Amino acid sequence: MRVLGIETSCDETAVAAVEDGRWVRANLVSSQTHLHERFGGVVPEVASRAHVEAINPMIDLAMQEADMRIRDVDAVAVTVGPGLVGALLVGMAAAKAVAVALGIPFIGVNHLEGHIYANWLDHGPVDEPFVCFLVSGGHTMLVHVPEPFRYEVLGQTLDDAAGEAFDKIARFMGLGFPGGPALDALARKGNPAAIRFPRAMADSGDFDFSLSGLKTAVVRYLKAARGRGEDPRPEDVAASFQEAVVDVQVAKTIAAAEAKGVRTIVLGGGVVANSRLRELMTERAKEHDFELIIPPMSLCTDNGAMIACAGHHRLARGETTDLAVAATPGLALA
Ligand code: KG4
Ligand code: ZN
Repeated sequence: MRVLGIETSCDETAVAAVEDGRWVRANLVSSQTHLHERFGGVVPEVASRAHVEAINPMIDLAMQEADMRIRDVDAVAVTVGPGLVGALLVGMAAAKAVAVALGIPFIGVNHLEGHIYANWLDHGPVDEPFVCFLVSGGHTMLVHVPEPFRYEVLGQTLDDAAGEAFDKIARFMGLGFPGGPALDALARKGNPAAIRFPRAMADSGDFDFSLSGLKTAVVRYLKAARGRGEDPRPEDVAASFQEAVVDVQVAKTIAAAEAKGVRTIVLGGGVVANSRLRELMTERAKEHDFELIIPPMSLCTDNGAMIACAGHHRLARGETTDLAVAATPGLALA
């Protein structure tokens, strides 16, 4: 069974073809970063327009890459939320059109579930129960998955998402947009112990996160240093900030897995591309004897293959989605 996966929830027009929920025949991502860069963030209206221009050529290109014709597609999966409503609508309209034209099943996928299922593509099916740490530009969330498609949210950020914090600090440091990858690269050359930034909610005893205090602390630190005529090494600031973020995330993920009595930890979302998060989580999971499953770098950030994969597994249970389904910007994981 060959599933076409379409993802347009934010600023990437992504189209993929995945066979049997496992084999990626094509996975193309057209990034709009260059359009949003000068605004320092994603402009929803600009994103929607760019999706409209890109979606049909991207579907054609994905078919070429997969060596398929559109009529070889057996089902269509598309992100229906969470995300920017105007951006979601473009992918959904395209997916519905393909489904109607070919008379094939249509399945709406939750973007966050897509990030979880990115793991199935590389590793193969992951056995429940597990605890998943979902960390992206829009979410920072610990989820217990006791059985397939059942999600118990254990905790989440009370303010900024981790990716958002990375992007904001990177912007303040003049590293461009989106700044997460640039900040990660800079941090690799710095000393993570140079500055002791606060570990927000490390001892809160729950599974929630807070990033805005840390963000303020970094900005204050830089302003104060500059006011004194000092120029702290950007590498050290980046490494110390990153360490403060990752430290709390790893500790809480391990604590959540212990609290739920699972043996497997799964990661998902764009920030999982962060080298220090991958490194420290691998280290701690090993110490505590957890099996850790992490998507390969190319499947961490938004892509169509993860949507096709999640859609495939829902279709395999006989689920389909009514074509009247609406785009839901705040769609919860349920
Ligand atoms: O999952 P994703 O592609 O989009 C959302 O669903 O939000 O995640 C994008 C986020 C951005 O904030 C980006 O800066 C961050 O992931 N990111 C990183 C790294 N690569 C991407 N953050 C830290 N380190 C990285 N290497
Ligand atoms: Zn995402």
